Amino acid sequence: MSAAPVICVDGPSGAGKGTVSLRLAAALGWHLLDSGALYRVVGFACRQAGVSLDDSDAVAGVARALDVDFRPTDAGVTVWLSGDDVTSAIRSEEGGADASLVAALEPVRAALLLRQQELARLPGLIADGRDMGTVVFPDAPLKIFLTASAEARAERRFHQLQGLGESVSLARLLTDIEQRDARDQSRSISPLVPAEDAIVIDSTALTADEVLQAACELAKSRKLMS
Ligand code: DC
Repeated sequence: MSAAPVICVDGPSGAGKGTVSLRLAAALGWHLLDSGALYRVVGFACRQAGVSLDDSDAVAGVARALDVDFRPTDAGVTVWLSGDDVTSAIRSEEGGADASLVAALEPVRAALLLRQQELARLPGLIADGRDMGTVVFPDAPLKIFLTASAEARAERRFHQLQGLGESVSLARLLTDIEQRDARDQSRSISPLVPAEDAIVIDSTALTADEVLQAACELAKSRKLMS
């Protein structure tokens, strides 16, 4: 499909996809697509424009017109919407819940498909998401499905949010994660499932370094890394 190689990193929220994707992109010198941020920006832009998240055609219109820019920094990729830095705004729990709603709308996924595929440029792309290996880059030479128990993911998110100064309850986070997983896995369009040729890594008992090491070994075995 694309001349540039793509490594897909799919899986549920909080499994560590963002961290391993960022570090893989840095290690290889490749581009990075945080597709979840695209869905988050669509939800955010709808809220700003007063567009109801139930109105799939209107939400798809917002997705098509989106003026979004991803700018890499040492601390990660920052997300800009129409010239404004919305990186922190879209990372809230509400931002995640809104993203999950708009991500279930077929016209929205269709509107974002080409935009994502166009990001596969040389020397290569690390694509972080849910349907990178199943829908967006089905011919990718390496597909990783990174998962972890819901409890481990809730705890990681808890510490992340505490670090951002947000006060949340761990029990509430676990319920939210379980509900979001159920919605992402059961939706009819692009459900969260591993591609048939994906390699599953369970990060429940692994450190971020161990996950990166496992991913690098896979990349080496596919001759994507020396
Ligand atoms: O990875 P994240 O938490 O930023 O994703 C936010 C939401 O977007 C999540 O509920 C799943 C959805 N999503 C999706 O459906 N497809 C993608 N490729 C990426 C994210």
